[in-house]
Amino acid sequence: MVAEIRCSTANLTDWSGEALAVGLFSGDAGASSRTALSARFGSVVADQLERRRFKAKPGECLCLDLLGQTPSLLILVGLGAPADFGAEQLRSATAAASKAAAGAGASQLGVAMPIEGLAAEQAAGAMAEAVRLSLFADQRFKSEAEPGPYPSQVELLGLGEAAQAAVASSAAICSGVELARELVAAPPNVATPAALAATAASIASDHGLELKVLERADCEALGMGSYLAVAQGSDLPPKFIHLTYRPAGAITRRLVLVGKGLTFDSGGYNLKTAGSQIEMMKYDMGGSAAVIGAMRAIAELKPAGVEVHMIVAACENMISGGAIHPGAIVTASNGKTIEINNTDAEGRLTLADALVYACKLEPDAVVDLATLTGACVIALGEEIAGLWSPNDALAQGLLEAGAQGGEQLWRMPLRASYRDGLKSGLADMKNTGPRPGGSITAALFLQDFVAKEIPWAHLDIAGTVWSDKGRGLDPAGATGFGVRTLVNWVQAGGPA
Ligand code: BES
Ligand code: MN
Ligand code: ZN
Repeated sequence: MVAEIRCSTANLTDWSGEALAVGLFSGDAGASSRTALSARFGSVVADQLERRRFKAKPGECLCLDLLGQTPSLLILVGLGAPADFGAEQLRSATAAASKAAAGAGASQLGVAMPIEGLAAEQAAGAMAEAVRLSLFADQRFKSEAEPGPYPSQVELLGLGEAAQAAVASSAAICSGVELARELVAAPPNVATPAALAATAASIASDHGLELKVLERADCEALGMGSYLAVAQGSDLPPKFIHLTYRPAGAITRRLVLVGKGLTFDSGGYNLKTAGSQIEMMKYDMGGSAAVIGAMRAIAELKPAGVEVHMIVAACENMISGGAIHPGAIVTASNGKTIEINNTDAEGRLTLADALVYACKLEPDAVVDLATLTGACVIALGEEIAGLWSPNDALAQGLLEAGAQGGEQLWRMPLRASYRDGLKSGLADMKNTGPRPGGSITAALFLQDFVAKEIPWAHLDIAGTVWSDKGRGLDPAGATGFGVRTLVNWVQAGGPA
């Protein structure tokens, strides 16, 4: 169950309900809101703000119990200076307000935030997203679920009826993000390759999408020796998942979203050792979760003119007598031979055949998302995903789609000379280069499997799919990173 979110023209002086959250600018810019609060609730508000040294810095949050009054809880959220205010600050402040209301057990919440500089629709969408995504709680694996959600009714104040449509479309995106979070958080004994295929099947049947699942034998027939080499050590059969959204009416763009779908990455014979977070490698299907979540949202939003294909070469990277040897040489579906000098660089092996398949669809652009390298986590940390693309317009479009959705991307270099690190004495290439610049050689490896004329971008989301502590709109755990970027990008029509 999710909170009901409505727009309302009420404001902080006349809304009545259980908990009222008010955003306050710092310094003189916050004076008029403070005056309005004092006029309504008396000098107690000003006294408390003074006594508790509330400066209205971004992220600052203060709860005041107004015993016996309506509202009975006042939540004050700092917004910082108006000059720095935008959709991003509105999102975090709304998330802070929602979490404070939840913490206090309030079931009804009114949120009064300034929306200056933003269109009402944009503000409503950002706030609705913040409420829903920050209150998300995954209870699937508890034997007894906590009641919820709290708050169950949220009103976005100062926003007219017209903004309600933005709340509805943000709900589709949030459903996609939540699905991605659930897939990533699900343990490796639950989110198996077959489970990913089943999830795609239910999206297809719920929304009338087309689904094709290639079994091992189908992939063999297509010569996918690189992908199947990774899958061969597992007792679980690989599933190559191809889901298609076709719009009603004319099609002007064909886009392909590819996601790395390793439902568990043990490293293979280059086994992950202590400290390498092997127990977290259920999230190595974060790329596939993002594209599946995005497809769910796209299926509901039905953007016109764009045909969207989703491809996930799902499997596990395991150890057994049948697992691939370090040093094995395999042939990918484009005929290239690969010396597998490290079985733990498996994501790129699965993506190689997925990208070859994607290019055969003759799309206008291909974007892949993958928890590809620890090196990217070292370079950019947990808040920013790496973006590689030889195509400036495509890179720019993705950066904008990310910024619009509150997901941070940073463009990284596809330095051609680093490709030398992948040279093999025997095969066309090795799958692993030297440690320095490891996320760049990984991107260069992928580039070898993309047709030259097709605009392509690669997002390394290894750092961003999971947040141990939670941050902003993300509760602790799976973030659902990538869904908002992809949906915004597709809705904007793909590449410029
Ligand atoms: N799935 C990992 C990358 C990863 C590491 C994701 C940490 C999230 C957190 C990937 O398959 C991997 O093992 N990459 C190796 C590549 C190396 C062997 C070249 C890595 O980054 O260490
Ligand atoms: Mn690996
Ligand atoms: Zn991996």
